[in-house]
Amino acid sequence: MGTLSGKIALITGSSRGIGQATAELFGREGATVVVHYRRSEAAALDVVSRIQEVGGKALTVRADLEDPDAIDALFDTITERLGSLDILMANAAATAFKPILDLKPYHVTRTFDVVFGSLVHMVQRAVPLMEKPGKGDLGRIITVTGHGTPFTLPAYSTIGAAKGAVETFTRYLAYELGPRHITCNTIAPGVITTDSTHYYAGDRYDTLDREVTTQTPLGRMGSPEDVARVALFLASPLADFVTGQVIRVDGGLTLTSGPFENMKHAE
Ligand SMILES: NC(=O)c1ccc[n+]([C@@H]2O[C@H](COP(=O)([O-])OP(=O)(O)OC[C@H]3O[C@@H](n4cnc5c(N)ncnc54)[C@H](OP(=O)(O)O)[C@@H]3O)[C@@H](O)[C@H]2O)c1
Repeated sequence: MGTLSGKIALITGSSRGIGQATAELFGREGATVVVHYRRSEAAALDVVSRIQEVGGKALTVRADLEDPDAIDALFDTITERLGSLDILMANAAATAFKPILDLKPYHVTRTFDVVFGSLVHMVQRAVPLMEKPGKGDLGRIITVTGHGTPFTLPAYSTIGAAKGAVETFTRYLAYELGPRHITCNTIAPGVITTDSTHYYAGDRYDTLDREVTTQTPLGRMGSPEDVARVALFLASPLADFVTGQVIRVDGGLTLTSGPFENMKHAE
């Protein structure tokens, strides 16, 4: 019996990175996992295989979260094949990393559609599935933001702002859905070793790794598994009375203040 035995979880963007690590952990802990992907069916099927290897249950569903019809189709599949949902982790995200003066209107629209608009739509479809008659347990909604919302990062304005909307919206979700026995929290990872961090940093990845390691009190970049374990906590009965919170999973990176970090080595 795992922590999530009998639960059904949808984790968007779970064919790789943080979503993948969370899907595999939730699967090991007994949940039936909907492994959502956009591009790589093969990667999503690998995640399903790894969950099945440890005796778990999982299925893949493809959906482009920019497309409302695809979101409806995703939830129609969950309704038909599983009949209910306990946990929604809105993890998928995408943007074009550009300075503000180079942004085109479609960069803004597409980022907000995939990061924020899809969240609103998914919540509207997920809540009725979480409220199935006879289910006594709490539903869980977990959103994912990051370091680029309280802080500024190069070429990150649009997704930083979209994630700001997600954090605010999650507090409203907690407020409105609390009476329906659904907890709603945000995980805000720091800098995590995933494909997208490599893509964002490009040929400066090693520099980023060194700087983050130096400036993080716990002395390293985060791993997808670091984030997955906090998602498991929020999805588990241990977090029954936690709602409306932003949980930072950043090794303390948000505690530090750039230039002053160099001085501690001169003590
Ligand atoms: N990596 C970090 O350092 C870090 C730090 C803070 C916060 N975060 C946040 O954590 C989450 C996961 O990050 P990550 O680095 O693991 O991966 P990521 O590259 O940010 O993307 C995660 C997933 O989003 C999916 N996705 C993108 N556009 C989509 C669309 N239009 N429709 C459906 N799915 C779409 C991708 O699927 P496809 O591959 O199939 O396109 C991918 O599986 C994101 O919300 C990210 O902003 C990451």
